Amino acid sequence: MTHEAVQPTVDPARAQAFVGTMTNIMNGGALALMCSIGHKTGLFDTMATLPPSTSVEIAAAAGLQERYVREWLAAMTVGGVVDHDEATATFHLPREHAGLLTRAAGPLNLTTFCQYVGLLGQVEDEVVEAFRNGGGVPYDRYPSFQALMAESSGQRFERTLVRQIVPILGPVGEALATGIDVADVGCGSGRAMVILGEAFPASRFVGIDMSETGIERARGLAAERGVANVRFEVHDAAALHHDADFDLVTTFDAIHDQAHPDTVLRAIFEAVRPGGTYLCVEPSASSHLHENLDLPMAPLLYTVSTMHCMTVSLAYGGEGLGAAWGSQETVRRLERAGFVDVRIERVRDDRSNTYFVARRPD
Ligand SMILES: C[S@@+](CC[C@H](N)C(=O)[O-])C[C@H]1O[C@@H](n2cnc3c(N)ncnc32)[C@H](O)[C@@H]1O
Repeated sequence: MTHEAVQPTVDPARAQAFVGTMTNIMNGGALALMCSIGHKTGLFDTMATLPPSTSVEIAAAAGLQERYVREWLAAMTVGGVVDHDEATATFHLPREHAGLLTRAAGPLNLTTFCQYVGLLGQVEDEVVEAFRNGGGVPYDRYPSFQALMAESSGQRFERTLVRQIVPILGPVGEALATGIDVADVGCGSGRAMVILGEAFPASRFVGIDMSETGIERARGLAAERGVANVRFEVHDAAALHHDADFDLVTTFDAIHDQAHPDTVLRAIFEAVRPGGTYLCVEPSASSHLHENLDLPMAPLLYTVSTMHCMTVSLAYGGEGLGAAWGSQETVRRLERAGFVDVRIERVRDDRSNTYFVARRPD
């Protein structure tokens, strides 16, 4: 019996539409890099303070080279980020856009996330190598990761931690004022503990991370802000040497990139006092891919996962859970570690994360 080759039919309209999709992908990736430059150079912050201005005036106000600024302004104009008036040769950053592009916008400043595109580009060839041969890219191949993470999560913590996150904790949140023991596992550069230490002087705070760079930055921050009730430890979360020492343990985006997340969850369970609370904060996603199609930043999430979160886990012989492991799987693993009464909470100014509040039984 002979098989005739079946020529798949091509829908020309779909093919044509996909030209548009690919064009948007290429332009979006390119503009993300230019937005990152706009953030790092302070151009967005400068433009937010200026009336419609020429490239010469903008470059002078920002203290930058005019030729580069002019080319950047061209990219921002065709990308729809800044307005351009041909007659006066001026450029202007609309207020509506400044609210998502400047340091003054705090956690709404999306340019901090744009910096991940360049950061991930630095390890692209190593990730490709891992696609072929397995393994992963270890943390030390991302030299600026701790600084970038500190910037993106730090602006969020300053806005949300005391006013929006503590209230979802219930009684243990109220007890912060009277004096409890708190640990933040995978604390990175330590901003969360420093902010809570300042706000709740009667409580005691410990930040734990295996990154010496992160802990060095954390100790520097605590010293700079003069908080005496916060200390930091360089330690592997999979082998926590704490036994029922804390009334509250937190993790902020620190479980999904673990080599052995279940071991860490169990170690956290042991570190929480009976009746104590664990706050696990993880990227908002469903554990089912088809339910993430409408998630606004899902492409960024899966990309950061592939090129950082998942690959760092695999680099240490880990599970490679991935950043989009999702709510269903998080609850399942929290319960498997022994936690009960897992509540799912949302925080107003942090739409990209889901907050799981769990309890160790009495
Ligand atoms: C995505 S970062 C989050 C940092 C911080 N919580 C924040 O929100 O800015 C994850 C952190 O977990 C730390 N980490 C990963 N595996 C760890 C382990 N086994 N023990 C301790 N820290 C770990 C990393 O060094 C990194 O600082």
